[in-house]
This record gives sequence, structure tokens and C-alpha cells, in this order.
Amino acid sequence: MKLNTQEQAMLDGDGQPGADARQKAMHLLLRYGEALGAERLVDTNNVAGTAGSSSTFIRDFYAKEGVATRDQLFSRFDLDSDDAVDEIQTARTFTCHLQTRIDPAHAEMMGVPGDVLDFHKESQGHSASLGVQLLNTCTPYANGNVQVKGEHCAWMESSAVVYCNSVLGARTNTEGRESTAAAMLTGKIPYWGFHLDENRLGQHQIDVEVEMDSVMDWGMLGYFTGDAVEEEIPVLTGIEGPASLIRHKHFGAAAASSGGVEMYHVVGATPEAGSIEQAFGTNRPVQILKYGAIERRRTYETINGNGHSTDVDYIMLGCPHYSIEQIWEASKLLDGKRVHENCALWIFTAAAVKDVADRNGYTKIIEDAGGVMMTDTCSAMSAALPRGTRVAATDSAKQTHYLPAITDVEAWFGSAADCVEAAITGKWKGEAP
Ligand code: F3S
Repeated sequence: MKLNTQEQAMLDGDGQPGADARQKAMHLLLRYGEALGAERLVDTNNVAGTAGSSSTFIRDFYAKEGVATRDQLFSRFDLDSDDAVDEIQTARTFTCHLQTRIDPAHAEMMGVPGDVLDFHKESQGHSASLGVQLLNTCTPYANGNVQVKGEHCAWMESSAVVYCNSVLGARTNTEGRESTAAAMLTGKIPYWGFHLDENRLGQHQIDVEVEMDSVMDWGMLGYFTGDAVEEEIPVLTGIEGPASLIRHKHFGAAAASSGGVEMYHVVGATPEAGSIEQAFGTNRPVQILKYGAIERRRTYETINGNGHSTDVDYIMLGCPHYSIEQIWEASKLLDGKRVHENCALWIFTAAAVKDVADRNGYTKIIEDAGGVMMTDTCSAMSAALPRGTRVAATDSAKQTHYLPAITDVEAWFGSAADCVEAAITGKWKGEAP
């Protein structure tokens, strides 16, 4: 890979404070970029990862190799370095923290032991001391980190990556813990994949022939799309009527879980698809698929393939993390109601959004009804469910996809209204649209 003068100086160890860690970071980016066939690096000032986060398992693993301090652990674990570095300097580039595995305010309810919680808090303190912004959400684009079109980023988290590329027109590959940590210290990331114009063109065409009226409709279409195109780029035509942040959020998260979609185009709506010709550019569609009432019905049945008993004991809302609009809607559905005694309702969001929900009184309405508002994590991420859960329900195709695999429960998928009704009655009554 060709390095410019600044990059070469970082690789050589430029004698500046923090040179050791930056040198390790550049070594990592060089190895990574060369393995990918990248010709060069690109500047980034927008990183979303898990820099500084760790677990007691990782701590104990590296302790056997003599790692004693947080900074040493960062160099071994986050930078994949063979040598421990004694001092990690603060972030050179704007970096935010994605979701974690623990909501500190509900650690006991999640079954997190005290020493694990203490270590988690110390990890978060270390991340903050490095200049990492503790957004702690899978939706940074809705919480103070909104990219602009063409901006080069280094993001982890599949649902955020697909939103970044598709809806905002910014550019990122699905990075990992180590590459985002290296980007944080250097402000560089390999220039390949979705950073390049030619890799952002459509490959498959999906003609949508049903109304797209709800978040649930967008979630199902996303699930169908990911299954159909796997890791390639779909171009969706025929979608009329308003989209919204929430609808795209659920579409992208579903497409990234049933397949590995990292970018999509909606003709007339997303920034690189002003027309079908622009979306495909020099590509010709590999296939042209239809998404009509039959496909929608089949998709609904596939997502709900893990639901059997209609006696529901856990409702999970907030995958991806709920927006304030969704919390507002949930609070209206729950106002004056009571969650069934055999059921639990947990709603996940970003801490910044919960703060608004607190101020608007939505948290109180939800908690008065017996629900719990949680932040920083989710059930799939933490593998934490209310004790004894056998049957869950959620309004997220992504969460329905992962929850049975991770936690061995049954899971139903439906609208937010279906889910809140199940929370109140303890019975699943959702139906295919
Ligand atoms: Fe976010 Fe958890 Fe879903 S991290 S995208 S709420 S699986």
C-alpha cells in the first residue's frame, strides 16, 4: 500500500507523544489494507466502534500474559499488537462508542454480577479518558453522529453501516474492533469497498408492488431483500409515499441480518439513486425480483417461523434502539394500561433519547404500566432476558432473527401495536398484513 509522508511518519514512530500506540495502529492498518488489496488509506474523522471496551474474560486472558494496565490491554486487545504499550494517547479523530453488553442502571435485573459491572464501568471510564464519546447505541446516526454525503467513516455495527451508506450517502465498510481502534488513533482507514464509487452501484433490482405504509412493512421488505441478495446491493423500485428514519432503520437492520446487506438504493429516495440509471450506473441487474402480496406473506411466515405458543412472556421493543418517536408511540399505547402479570416489557434506547423520554414524561407512563426503559444494550447483544422467558415478541425482524438463536426462546414478530397488546394481555394475536 502506498503511504503518504504523514502516514509513513506514523508507521516509523514519529517521536510525538503516543507514537508507540499510533505506530502499532498503522502497522495494523497496513496489514489489514494489504490483505484487502487496498492501494492506500483515506482520512476519516468519524469512527464508531468499541474502543476501550473490554470484559473480565478478556482481562483475565491477557493478565496471564503479563498485561497489567488498561492501556496495555488496549494495545494487545484493541490494536492486536504482540507488544503491550504503556500509554495510549487520546483519539486523534472523532470517535463514538456503539452499544455495550450492560445497562448499568438495570445490571441486577440483567443478572450481571457486581464485579462484572464494576469492570464495565471502569472500561467505560477508560474509553471516555481516551476521548471516545459514550453514545452507547447502535443508532449513532440518530444520536449526535450524523454523517454527511460522501464522508469517509470507519463504523462497526451492521444496522448502522447500512444506514450510513444508504440513507446518508456517507461511506464505510463494516469495520471491526481493531480497525476502528486503529482509525481512532490515526484518522486513517483502508480505501477499499464502499469508499470507492464503483463498489456502490446497484446489482439486483426488486420491484415493490405492495403499499409500504408502516415500519412493519419496511422491516418485512428488508428481511425479504437480505435473503434475496445476500451481501450484494439491491435497488428497490416502486416504493411510493413517505419513508422516514425509523422505516429505513428497520429495513436496513433486517436486510443486514437475513443477508449481509451493507448498502441499498431506493429509487427516488436515497441519495445515490435519483433514478434507476444512477443507481445501477454501469451495472446491469443480476436479477429482477418482485415483492408483492405473496412474497410479503411468505416473508411474514418465515420471520415468525420460531413462534409457536401464543402465551407470550417477554416483549422486547427497541431493535435498533428506539427513537423518541417510537417511545412516544409506545407510551400512548400503554397510557393507563398495565403489563400482564405473566409478561415483561423491556424497551431499549440510547441514553440520550431516554433523557428526552424522561423529560417528556414517556418513561413514567411506560414504567407506571409496568414496562422498563433500558439503555446501552439489548437482549440479543447481552443475551439477557427476563428470568424464565420462553416466548418473546418484538417489532424488529432483526431481533426476531437473532433472539431464538442466541437465547433459545421462541419469538414472534409484528407491529409495535401487536407487541404492546401482547404485553397487556399476555397473548400473541399478531396477524399477517
Ligand atoms: Fe441494536 Fe441490539 Fe438490534 S445492538 S440493532 S438493538 S440487536
